[in-house]
Amino acid sequence: MIRICPLSALPPGEALRVHAAQDAEPHPPIAVFHTEEGEIFAVDDTCTHQDASLADGWLEGCEIECPLHESKFNLRTGQVDSPPAKLPIRTHTVHIEDDHICVEMSDAQPNLPPGVKFGVES
Ligand code: FES
Repeated sequence: MIRICPLSALPPGEALRVHAAQDAEPHPPIAVFHTEEGEIFAVDDTCTHQDASLADGWLEGCEIECPLHESKFNLRTGQVDSPPAKLPIRTHTVHIEDDHICVEMSDAQPNLPPGVKFGVES
């Protein structure tokens, strides 16, 4: 479990990019979103289409629009709602503990775009 920040540090409508190194294993950065409706979501930050940061995208409801080619992803499920991305983003479980946002990283393999690798020597 990664302790991200106090809940008050991420106002509704905002996003945070986090370099998640919870152990010796490197992880792709994650993006944490606080929706206008008050929900918190955590997903892999990198778009599955190309190397773009979803934390820099546009948040609407529980959907994030990629800043590069405007793919839309459902933050609840990770599914693609609008192309050109085809693969879902990996979602992570969010807990609120002592008014802090905490993220439990998924064990699933990330769907990184072609040519983007984390923690792998090329
Ligand atoms: S990089 Fe996100 S849609 Fe192309």
